[in-house]
Amino acid sequence: MITVRTIQELRSQIAGMKKQISKPEVTVGFVPTMGYLHEGHASLMKQARNKTDIVVLSIFVNPIQFGPNEDFESYPRDEKRDLAVAEKEGVDIVFIPSVKEMYPQPTKTTIKVAGLTERLCGASRPGHFDGVTTVVAKLFNIVQPDFAFFGMKDAQQVAVLSQMVADLNMPVTIVPCPIMREDDGLALSSRNVYLSSEERSQALCLSRSLSLAEKASKERPDITIGELRSLVTAEIKKSPVAVIDYVEILTFPGLQPVHEEQKLTDLEDVIVALAVKFGKTRLIDNHRLQKVKVVSHV
Ligand code: PAF
Repeated sequence: MITVRTIQELRSQIAGMKKQISKPEVTVGFVPTMGYLHEGHASLMKQARNKTDIVVLSIFVNPIQFGPNEDFESYPRDEKRDLAVAEKEGVDIVFIPSVKEMYPQPTKTTIKVAGLTERLCGASRPGHFDGVTTVVAKLFNIVQPDFAFFGMKDAQQVAVLSQMVADLNMPVTIVPCPIMREDDGLALSSRNVYLSSEERSQALCLSRSLSLAEKASKERPDITIGELRSLVTAEIKKSPVAVIDYVEILTFPGLQPVHEEQKLTDLEDVIVALAVKFGKTRLIDNHRLQKVKVVSHV
């Protein structure tokens, strides 16, 4: 595994590796991350390893996707451990640029995906998605991957980036990968380290509430969106330290609101998306309720 810190070195390493592989079309798989890698990231690297010839991982805590009062400075970092995880997953090249390498001068160009970034985390974290789309577009231009792997825990990010790639004809396929959870249901996140043990056990209300939504969707397919939202909200509110930022039920991947009176049966796929604070830590989680396709036998 090779570690590189400059764009020039990265490009020359990818070109060199491509030449060494004697195949007509060598594919590059890319896993962009902010580091502090966990099993969720490892699952993305595994998928990339299975699907593509050259696997590139980037580790970059991107300042322009953090708001002024957010955790950019304190975001957890552990390069040594990250490199060990990447090595174990068979990554070929790890790209760890400095802020100066990525932004030698403040960027005057930003990418904004309208329509998908106004709700959910886009509403709570103004400017966040412009920072994500801008850095991911830069990374795509630098790495030029054929496939890029993203976890569905950030479902809005997957929807926004898929839209960006389609709108701008970027020659890369976004591969959404399933949410990875601890055995007790907590979705894996680099920010879980911030939780005290009390907050961590209270945070299980997120996955519990999503399981309730899944169960209700199967047992009562004619449940309304309003009823479903109440069910999820009530479960979260059982946790005394949980402070709800949002509990939203939207279409997926369009992320459009649905009327409270509407029945689940009348809708295509929807996503139940949550953002909840436990102490200082804001966690997100979601679950996609997929429409059961009725097969008619004639
Ligand atoms: O999901 C993340 O870790 C970040 O938003 C990403 C995609 C690496 C961009 O900085």
